[in-house]
Amino acid sequence: MSFRISTELRAGPGQFLTGLRDDDSLLRQVFFSILRHHHPNLAAKVDVIYALSQAWCTSQSDSDFELLVKYVSDLKPEERILVASSFSHMLNLHNLTEEVNSSQIGRAVRLGEMDSPTRDTNHSLLKLTAVNGLTPQQVYDSLCNQTVELVLTAHPTQALRASLLKKYAIVRRELDTLHSKRMSEYEKIETLEAIRAAVQAAWRTDEIRRSKPTPQDEMRSGLSYFSTVIFDVVPVFHRRVDTALEKMGLPRLPLDKALFKFGSWMGGDRDGNPNVTAETTRDVVVLARLEAVNTYFRQVESLMFDLSMWRCSPEMKELAERIAAAESREAARVAEERKKRNYADFWAPIPATEPFRVVLSHMRDRLYNTRQVLHQCLVHPNMSVRGALEEAGAYLDIEDMARPLKLMYDSLMSTGDASVANSRLLDLLRQLRTFGLSMMGLDIRQESSRHTEVMDAITTYLGLGSYASWDEQTRLKFLLDELQGKRPLMPPGMDMSPDVKEVVATFRMLSGLPSDSLGAYIISMAKTASDVLAVVLLQRESGVRPALRVVPLFETLEDLNNAPGTMTTLLSNDWYRAHINGMHECMIGYSDSGKDAGRLAAAWALYETQEKLVAVAAEYGIRLVLFHGRGGTVGRGGGPTHMAIRSQPSGTINGHLRVTVQGEIIEQQFGEKEVCFRTLDLYTSAVLEAALDPPPAPRQEWRDLMTRLATDSCDMYRSVVYRTPEFYEYFMQSTAASELGRLNIGSRPSSRKQGGIETLRAIPWIFAWTQQRLHLPVWLGIGEALEGAIAQGYQPVLQDMYANWPFFTSTLDLVEMVLAKADARLSAFYERTLVEGSLAPLGEKLRRLLAKTQQHILIVVRKNALLEGNTPSQMSTPNLDEKIRLRSPYVAPLNVLQALSLKGLRKFRELGHGGVEYNPSDPEIIDLLSRDPHKKGEGAQHPFVSAMDDCLMITIKGIAAGMQNTG
Ligand code: PGA
Repeated sequence: MSFRISTELRAGPGQFLTGLRDDDSLLRQVFFSILRHHHPNLAAKVDVIYALSQAWCTSQSDSDFELLVKYVSDLKPEERILVASSFSHMLNLHNLTEEVNSSQIGRAVRLGEMDSPTRDTNHSLLKLTAVNGLTPQQVYDSLCNQTVELVLTAHPTQALRASLLKKYAIVRRELDTLHSKRMSEYEKIETLEAIRAAVQAAWRTDEIRRSKPTPQDEMRSGLSYFSTVIFDVVPVFHRRVDTALEKMGLPRLPLDKALFKFGSWMGGDRDGNPNVTAETTRDVVVLARLEAVNTYFRQVESLMFDLSMWRCSPEMKELAERIAAAESREAARVAEERKKRNYADFWAPIPATEPFRVVLSHMRDRLYNTRQVLHQCLVHPNMSVRGALEEAGAYLDIEDMARPLKLMYDSLMSTGDASVANSRLLDLLRQLRTFGLSMMGLDIRQESSRHTEVMDAITTYLGLGSYASWDEQTRLKFLLDELQGKRPLMPPGMDMSPDVKEVVATFRMLSGLPSDSLGAYIISMAKTASDVLAVVLLQRESGVRPALRVVPLFETLEDLNNAPGTMTTLLSNDWYRAHINGMHECMIGYSDSGKDAGRLAAAWALYETQEKLVAVAAEYGIRLVLFHGRGGTVGRGGGPTHMAIRSQPSGTINGHLRVTVQGEIIEQQFGEKEVCFRTLDLYTSAVLEAALDPPPAPRQEWRDLMTRLATDSCDMYRSVVYRTPEFYEYFMQSTAASELGRLNIGSRPSSRKQGGIETLRAIPWIFAWTQQRLHLPVWLGIGEALEGAIAQGYQPVLQDMYANWPFFTSTLDLVEMVLAKADARLSAFYERTLVEGSLAPLGEKLRRLLAKTQQHILIVVRKNALLEGNTPSQMSTPNLDEKIRLRSPYVAPLNVLQALSLKGLRKFRELGHGGVEYNPSDPEIIDLLSRDPHKKGEGAQHPFVSAMDDCLMITIKGIAAGMQNTG
């Protein structure tokens, strides 16, 4: 999350900035010494470029900028690759210093060495009782009733390869150790060596992913966060909450309480991704179950060593004796089988005098069998996963595992061994409650029009007419009649186009999966009530039982505004109300709404829609769960977790938060144990406070002004983006939008279909502007809206809103931070290098609008800022300025290189080979240019294209690291 660190620092004392600078220079030195070792000449050039860039970043003078551009332009093609790579690596290393800095601050807060805003659960518990006057019991009850569900998605915004992430994780860990541990000289030397080794390994790895990942790859990479971090940290975090509760004289959390649940879209999200098929979804479900079973297997096996005691409750004794007796009847076979399985120990049947081991050993066998069945399912794609598990008596129902573990727990408590019970056994119980047997629930996502196509195929086949051409009322009547009737709708021989067949195959496949592996069925671009009912009907027709809850995703301004009406239509229907059993989930999309209407208008529509949806649900006595589809960057609804949750309208969270964790944010929130702990802590504390200390309702005057700002900013935004004829051309020429698809950072194509801005997905839209440094989608329209309001005398109201309304504060703070990262000079360089002259006036206009927005945001967030002569980068987050100062010299050369490579590539393609003379003969350069296995032999590229292409891809990744976000 790009702003996590800067807001942390806002509370931090200057000493941490010194640490940041020292770490930055330490890692730079390490990197340079490696570079000098491998490429002494290049290292000298990188040194010069860094110095030129630093000079320009400090002076901001045109002449310094031209010196930098000139020097970079003179580099040979192969040098450009290595220079881009150097700066990209340095930026990634710089990011690690910020992350370590952030953990240092977190630690200082925990040790009581620094004041903390209320951002951890312990503080929240104390604050809610001491300041808000709630009783400890009220706080306890609320905590016990809350759940946070984090849904990890495969959005293509993590630009770094996993191979590099792993090496950087080592650097981060060792750097942190340097700060936090008292060390001997020897240990320090060894730690620095470990840092050097990881930096060198990263530098010698190809940072470009050369082929597209499959959805299964995406799931595997998602699962690695569970096996290496999340699974272990969840019980540790629950334990910390227990300790905090006990310190307040309260009981621990109940045994079966899971504060978190995890969901996934990896291999389930088929919206615009033809690579996610029915078979893929089945595969990823099996992979996730396998991961869960493997993890439990290890836990159970190690508990067998721990729980060697013989005292136990009568119930425990009875169970152990039953299992032991059965095993002893065929002791030789059991021992032989366990030997073949090569268990760590305990091959022979265990006597009933070690009752815990007996029961655990039985569980271990069953886990082993479960694993075998799941392996079979991977090999045989037509096998029903649920059927196979059932038939083999493998673990399918979580209670089968939870029951004996609970029996052991109760037994230990009854024999006076509470400390043993509350140790690793309790951890396992909590892991089981959190991750179940499926590790995470997989959501399915499909676009509404794909279901319409299926319904159309059905009604046409049955001779009822064309569903697609019916109006909403006719569709609703048809669907409700069918849902209340019994006639089967999909005869076996029905004609189906390949697209329809795939949707139908998905529904059929879902019916054979274990139901705990599945989460919600999300309908993207949901517009009407019939979009929801069609999926309810298709699930029934395909025998999906129990059916997945059907969740409309509202994601354009119009659909958000219509959402309360759509939900009223659904909830006012008696049949539907009875069907949903008192609970409904709706998803709201932050990025597409922003792309459609601009950030400010989207933020306000999301706010109001949530309030209205809560009111509609309350009217019908339904519990509403809002699922927030947020990306990582500000343009896609991202922002610091605590701030994001605390600025939601009051009454919309109510102890249950469901939110996506996308792309690069997965690494940022779960990449390492301490970070993961902190993530869990932030979510828990924010959701608890949202329930017990909700923000005050905004005053009517604020609402009115906000509505006006939203309308004005949306008009301005749309007039530029959708109504300026040359805008699309300017966007395509001045950014890397059309080249982004070659990044191979996700399994899905970068756009749904050919077309203008409307058909472009939100990720490349934001990604491209971020790279080019204009960051237009985040701010466009806001300057004019604020200017209008200020001109009409609303400045005091705006400042009052900023000071007292968390929603408005966080919205402006986030925009302000992005404005500080925008760089009109660099953006103008892209234009000068890439855009045809006739479009230049549009670029000038956009930069004027940027300046206006910076100016007016400053007026609101800091009354006298302009009078004091502050520049945009001296805005209300003082340490952000320092942080930008540290990273800017690394980013600017990448921007220059990116614009130059785009120009080289485009010109080469336009003119064919003509004009470019570049045929290196040095074997090392030839090797450097032929790293792409797909571009060898027949498909070989001209060496110039290879060089420019690689340079471009590396700059994209580097700038993404520099902006600490991507799409
Ligand atoms: P989507 O998401 O394109 O998958 O709907 C957009 C985003 O998260 O930015």
